[in-house]
Amino acid sequence: MIRLRPGALADAQSIAQVQVATWRDTYAGVLPTDILVTMSVARHTTHWQAALLRRRAGECITVALVDDAIVGYGSAGPARGRFPVATGEVQTLYVLHDFQELGLGRALLRALFASLLRDGMRRAVIWVVAQNHARFFYEAMGGVGRTTRTEQLWKTSVETIGYEWDNLDAAIHTLDARMARTDR
Ligand SMILES: CC(C)(COP(=O)(O)OP(=O)(O)OC[C@H]1O[C@@H](n2cnc3c(N)ncnc32)[C@H](O)[C@@H]1OP(=O)(O)O)[C@@H](O)C(=O)NCCC(=O)NCCS
Repeated sequence: MIRLRPGALADAQSIAQVQVATWRDTYAGVLPTDILVTMSVARHTTHWQAALLRRRAGECITVALVDDAIVGYGSAGPARGRFPVATGEVQTLYVLHDFQELGLGRALLRALFASLLRDGMRRAVIWVVAQNHARFFYEAMGGVGRTTRTEQLWKTSVETIGYEWDNLDAAIHTLDARMARTDR
């Protein structure tokens, strides 16, 4: 059984486990191997505990569960950088390899958009590493890649693309319609 719910403090370790596993899958060949190998669930658990404890206005963390085990998560909040007011940013969105293509990514994205909208944001952006084929997922979800920038990710320069949604309300309706069509 698949379900989504807001992340709780007790989820920090499970979120960190998903993060470490998906980063190793996703960024092999993009980020230096030693960085991926030395990623630590304990260290990332501490990070997520802090994030879950200090959630600021407009921030949300959502987890996706299959049979009560966390297999994906996403987080969002007000956009960082030069964006119009009322722009939100999806900061993370990760689903374990064995649970991809089941509709969880779209359901998580929809939940994050809905949370941003509830908190007064009207638009959203997601920065994706250009080499990551997840960018095509965001295109399929209606995002428009407008901006590129070079970011320092763990001491590595990576090119990222900003995918934007100009109308979160309309984006949610589109995602709902596609979910209904695919019966997910
Ligand atoms: C990208 C990601 C979140 C998508 O989640 P998912 O659960 O696999 O996606 P869904 O099953 O919800 O897919 C929804 C639709 O998008 C399509 N899709 C999924 N991944 C896609 C991709 N990489 N490229 C193009 N289309 C994709 C699916 O086929 C599906 O199509 P449909 O509307 O015809 O049914 C997931 O694959 C993932 O975690 N990848 C690794 C980590 C990552 O790169 N995260 C993003 C960091 S910015």
